[in-house]
Amino acid sequence: MPLTRRTLIAASLSITFALAPLTSAFAASPQPAKGEHGMVVTAQHLASEVGIDVLKKGGNAVDAAVAVGYALAVVYPNAGNIGGGGFMTIRFKDGKSTFLDFRERAPLAATKTMYLDKDGNPVKGASLDGYLAVGVPGSVAGLELAREKYGKLSRQDLMAPAIGYAKDGFILNQGDATSFAGSADRLAKDPAAAAIFLKPDGKPYGIGERLVQPDLAASLAAISEKGPDAFYKGAIADAIVKASGAKGGILAKPDFEQYAVRELKPVTCTYRGYEITSSPPPSSGGVIICEILNVLEGYPLSYLGAGSAETIHVMIEAMRYAYVDRNSALGDPDFVDNPVSKLLDKAYAKDIRDKIDPFRAGVSQELMPKGFGESKETTHYSIIDDDGNAVAVTYTLNGSFGAGVVADGTGILLNNEMDDFTQKPGVPNLYGLVQGEANAIQSKKTPLSSMSPTVVAKDGKPFMVIGSPGGSRIITITLEAIVNVIDHGMNIQEAIDAPRIHHQWLPDKVYVEPFGLSPDTEKLLAGMGYHLDLADQTWGQAAGILVGGKSLAEIEKGGGARYNGAIDSRAASGEALGY
Ligand code: GLY
Repeated sequence: MPLTRRTLIAASLSITFALAPLTSAFAASPQPAKGEHGMVVTAQHLASEVGIDVLKKGGNAVDAAVAVGYALAVVYPNAGNIGGGGFMTIRFKDGKSTFLDFRERAPLAATKTMYLDKDGNPVKGASLDGYLAVGVPGSVAGLELAREKYGKLSRQDLMAPAIGYAKDGFILNQGDATSFAGSADRLAKDPAAAAIFLKPDGKPYGIGERLVQPDLAASLAAISEKGPDAFYKGAIADAIVKASGAKGGILAKPDFEQYAVRELKPVTCTYRGYEITSSPPPSSGGVIICEILNVLEGYPLSYLGAGSAETIHVMIEAMRYAYVDRNSALGDPDFVDNPVSKLLDKAYAKDIRDKIDPFRAGVSQELMPKGFGESKETTHYSIIDDDGNAVAVTYTLNGSFGAGVVADGTGILLNNEMDDFTQKPGVPNLYGLVQGEANAIQSKKTPLSSMSPTVVAKDGKPFMVIGSPGGSRIITITLEAIVNVIDHGMNIQEAIDAPRIHHQWLPDKVYVEPFGLSPDTEKLLAGMGYHLDLADQTWGQAAGILVGGKSLAEIEKGGGARYNGAIDSRAASGEALGY
């Protein structure tokens, strides 16, 4: 185990804060779930059961991921979807890996200025609400490509549980009911969405009530029988295009017919001897996680201690520099020449470290590139099978319940992913991200994402599967879980539950979860020049698996469970299930 502040208090980087308090803000966490043959961790307990059943029946981790993807579209409709898109990172048992990009694309008729008024200013809500906000969905094509190429079971077998939950309904628990209640006003604006997700009296479904989705069951049954053509070339696409045309959207049949999944090489890097495999552009996730880890590798984080002012300081500065790169340089690889090798270079990370003042906060405005003018509801699930195939999936409608619209007769909620593009350089999006030209809207382009489905390996074996929703914060949520396990020795549940901080260059603020820092640490950071935004809400819902023990100490000692799963304590309906 690395030397920690708990084991040695001595002079460190700092001056006045050398005796920053030991970490005390972290509450106790429940024990991780254990399994010897497989583990499925999702944000909705019924979907976790679907995944574990697939593994027990002989399906592999990809089969389970496909079945979970369809199940979440029914039982977790605020983010699970077939009307949105996402990413799948797969690390196979032989150590090879791949990445499926089934994220949304801009419609053919999309233009750079489509969300601006005649004076060139963004029209409020235009990229978030209604059909103009909808990108061409990719989930059905992505899940089917994964199944066909890497799965073992039939589409019919994998879709049957989702069809059953849509047709026969499922009973809402507290977490389900809370997410429905939170979006009731929005869903009420679209008659087709309201007819599904609100009761005849206009109220949202409550705890113990059953949600039945017959139209969605019929759409899923058509896909199960005929494959993705039922979605992209048949009646479903026709219905979505018709509704879009009638309600101010620009989706056209060729948008659906031309949709294609991209299979890409994942981003890889090393951190203190661990091998990270994560999402490449059009996600910024993997690149920016690696860039931040490369910077942090030069600091003795385990010695500085979890939650200490020194640790928080270097983490914020690494985040600040990396998010400048994220927001200014990255975009869809078919349209932009992404400087991935530069951003992943350890020498570049050293240049950043050399610029970090050990005693003072940086200033974001000073990092403004030349020419540069939350959870928001995504969901992540992590799966590993008996052979050691590991799958991390993050997929999304973007905002909670997406654009809040359903084309009549389809039962399918549609995304508002177009908001992830730069509407206008310098103007913040849903997540407060201020972005540049590389992520400008273009026909058929994919908006830059932060989704970071990640697999970490050690000595050629899977070590950790991790990811989270959280919009622009996905990157720091995933990063902090990795650092908490590797540097701070937390078990997988503690690593996920620990309070979070976040910085994204602009606005120049450090977001801190409730009770994330002790008052002493807050004072030390404020004294260094940081603007702390002490949030009254938590963010993210990470889902993780650790292999060989629940923590690094247990792995090193031996004798831990083979698979150790943790769903974020912030995820009210989720479950980690092992067998
Ligand atoms: N819509 C959130 C993301 O892709 O980053």
